[in-house]
Amino acid sequence: MLNKFKNSPVIPVLTLDNVDESLKIAEVLVTSGLSNLEVTLRTPNAFKCIEAIKKEFSEAFIGAGTLVKKEQFQQVKDIGCSFAVSPGFTEALVYEAKKVGISYLPGVSTPSEIIRLRELGVSFQKFFHASNSGGYKILQAYSNIFTDIKFCPTGGIQQENYQEYLKLNNVLCLGGSWMVSKGCLKDKNFTLHVEEIVKNF
Ligand code: 3PG
Repeated sequence: MLNKFKNSPVIPVLTLDNVDESLKIAEVLVTSGLSNLEVTLRTPNAFKCIEAIKKEFSEAFIGAGTLVKKEQFQQVKDIGCSFAVSPGFTEALVYEAKKVGISYLPGVSTPSEIIRLRELGVSFQKFFHASNSGGYKILQAYSNIFTDIKFCPTGGIQQENYQEYLKLNNVLCLGGSWMVSKGCLKDKNFTLHVEEIVKNF
């Protein structure tokens, strides 16, 4: 997971409920080079959308996001997800991910949570909600404090500032939905944003 994210460090966070639309969005992303995708488990058809994208685009590295219950780890592994993401964490979730054997990116937003998660053996952490928790400036400050922790900031990141995050030595990658917002298939900026992101890797 770390190598995949390092090589393609912008992870589109997709909230999908329609299989046809999912395939069209995935086509633009994957063929442009944004092949690390997080699909949130926030819609009734999220599983179906993940399965359809996996089947159609074998080069995509797909994970599931918004995992908040233990039983979801086995479910997302069973449909072929390569990683799982949570906005926060509990010990039970961290242990379950290990037990199931799926790469896991749990979330933090405070120094105490960073320390607790490090105690549980997790040194790659999602920083959520990035823009409301201090943005890239707080992550810059953390680079001197938590020298062994790498972050994946997510939440509120925009086309205008994502590169500020990627410049930081403690940011391995980042997630965001700004380029795939609702109605993106009709938005002329969709492909432009995607092309610009890939060009800047
Ligand atoms: C999410 O939970 O949807 C992700 O963190 C993405 O956040 P964003 O929509 O603010 O980019």
